[in-house]
Amino acid sequence: MAHHPSFTELPTELPVTLILADTSAEAAWARDDDSVLTEQERNYAKEFDAEAAATWSAGRVVLRHVLGAHLGQDPAAIEIRLDSAGKPRHDECEFSVSRSRRLVLVAVADDPVGLDIEAIPERDVALEAMQLLHERERAELEALPDDDFAAGFVRVWARTEAFLKALSTGLARDPGLDYIGAGPEPNSPHPDVDIHDLEAGIPDGHIAAIAFNR
Ligand SMILES: CC(C)(COP(=O)(O)OP(=O)(O)OC[C@H]1O[C@@H](n2cnc3c(N)ncnc32)[C@H](O)[C@@H]1OP(=O)(O)O)[C@@H](O)C(=O)NCCC(=O)NCCS
Repeated sequence: MAHHPSFTELPTELPVTLILADTSAEAAWARDDDSVLTEQERNYAKEFDAEAAATWSAGRVVLRHVLGAHLGQDPAAIEIRLDSAGKPRHDECEFSVSRSRRLVLVAVADDPVGLDIEAIPERDVALEAMQLLHERERAELEALPDDDFAAGFVRVWARTEAFLKALSTGLARDPGLDYIGAGPEPNSPHPDVDIHDLEAGIPDGHIAAIAFNR
């Protein structure tokens, strides 16, 4: 089944389908039409303030449509469950979701996958968040020219979150434990996991990474 026409499939040579939805533009309908969500999902969103609720709901609407097209099923009938670590799962495919502001990125793959997209932050935000990273990563980031620092930080952060989402721990595992690095290629701290930067089709001002747990 084809993906929704307001979604963009990103080019990649990796073994994954990558779908980007901009819910501030072509995919804005996903913020208004939550008819595919379950009662439980609607109730969950009500816990947040209005903007956060709309953003979370739109992400889940996009996910349901992506999985529905992938599996050839009604988006409203897709069974999404949380595993013991809190990662949303489906019995018939592996997927990962990340949101940045109103962008939603979804990966569907054969192997367990973790995905992260982040907007490049202000320098002072990056300086503070950098303290959560591995000490070698902090040293590498401190050595960068000022102009490259915020993007450099968020690249390491996106690689780390993708890795932790592929492991399924998310941030329940301290992001400072594993060295992934700020170099041109991510280092994988785990023999079963490979980590990649995503470039093609990622909107300006954003950084994304993906990891596979094979
Ligand atoms: C998952 C997590 C890494 C999200 O990071 P984020 O940059 O804020 O948000 P993203 O949009 O990139 O990702 C959110 C998605 O990650 C997925 N996710 C949640 N827990 C996950 C886990 N343990 N493993 C993999 N993916 C997970 C979900 O699909 C979630 O989207 P949803 O809320 O629509 O279901 C982080 O919030 C987390 O680990 N939370 C669980 C552990 C926790 O709460 N620790 C204390 C916080 S410091």
